[in-house]
Amino acid sequence: MKHLLSSKDLTRDEVLALFVRAGEFLPVVKERRRLNLAEGKILATLFYEPSTRTRFSFETAMLRLGGMVISNADMGSTSSAKKGETLYDTGKMASTFADIIAMRHPQPGSVAELALGSSVPVINGGDGPGDHPTQGLLDLFTIQRALGRLENFTIAMVGDLKYSRVVHSQCEYLMHFTGVRFILVSPEGLKMPAELVERLRGKGFEVSETADLESVMGECDVLSDTRIQQERFATQEEYERYNGVYILTPALMAKAKPDMIVIDPLPRVNHIDPAVDSDPRARYFEQVENGVAVRMAILAELLGV
Ligand code: CP
Repeated sequence: MKHLLSSKDLTRDEVLALFVRAGEFLPVVKERRRLNLAEGKILATLFYEPSTRTRFSFETAMLRLGGMVISNADMGSTSSAKKGETLYDTGKMASTFADIIAMRHPQPGSVAELALGSSVPVINGGDGPGDHPTQGLLDLFTIQRALGRLENFTIAMVGDLKYSRVVHSQCEYLMHFTGVRFILVSPEGLKMPAELVERLRGKGFEVSETADLESVMGECDVLSDTRIQQERFATQEEYERYNGVYILTPALMAKAKPDMIVIDPLPRVNHIDPAVDSDPRARYFEQVENGVAVRMAILAELLGV
C-alpha cells in the first residue's frame, strides 16, 4: 500500500493481514503501553471536518507506536486553505514535515487530491459522504472478534444509508467474504445508493430493503447502526423529517437474538437510548478501542515498520 484512500484499495488478504496485526496491537492499547516501532516518525492529522474519535484514534495509535504527532483539527479556517492554498500544495507542504498523513474533508475525492501532492502515505479519515476506509476496517475487525468469523451472517444496516460513508465502506469490505445477507433499513429518502445495492446483488449477495426496523430485529447477527447526519442535509427542515426515525431502545433490543451485536461509528445523536449501553450486545464503545489497534496496524503497514 502507498496510500489508504478508499475501501476499494484493499484485497481480502490485505484486510485479513491487517486484522492479524491489529490483534497483536490490541493488548498494547488495552494495557496503555507504548512501543518504539515508529520512533522518530511523525504523523500529521489534517482535519477539515469535525471529529472526536477518528482524529484522536489516529493520534493515539501513532503515539502508542512510539511516533509523534502534528495536528490541525480545523484546517478549513486556521490553515492556509483559508488563503486559497490548494489541496495539492497542502499535500506537498505536509509531507515535507511529516512521514504520514491522516486527513478528513467534507468533499468526496478531496483526500485523493491532497495525496497527489504528497510524497508520503495519506490515509482517508472520511471524505464527506464518500468513504471512511479505516472506520469500515475497525467495524469488520469488531465483527470478526465478536462472531469469530466474517462469513455466513446476517447484517442489518440501519439509518442514513444514502449519506453514511461508514456503511458504504462496510459494504466494500464485506464483498470480499461469502454468505453475508444484507438487510438495509432506512426511510425511503435515505436508501442505500442503487449502484451499491446492484453491485452487492451482482456478486451474489442476498439483499433486502425495508423501512421497518422492528420487523427485522430478530433476524440479524450484526446491527450496523448509523445516525441521521444533520451536516449532510441542505436545510434543517429536511433533517427534521428524519431526525429520530430510528431510536435503538431496550424494548427493541429485547426482540433481537441473544448473541446479536450492535456496532455504531457514533457520535450518538438521538438514535441510541443510553439504557442500551449496558447491554453486553452493544459493542460501540469496544469498537473505539479496537479502532486504535486497527489504526496502529494501518500506520505500521504504511510506514513499513
Ligand atoms: N466514527 C467517527 O468517524 O467518529 P468521529 O466523527 O468523531 O471521528
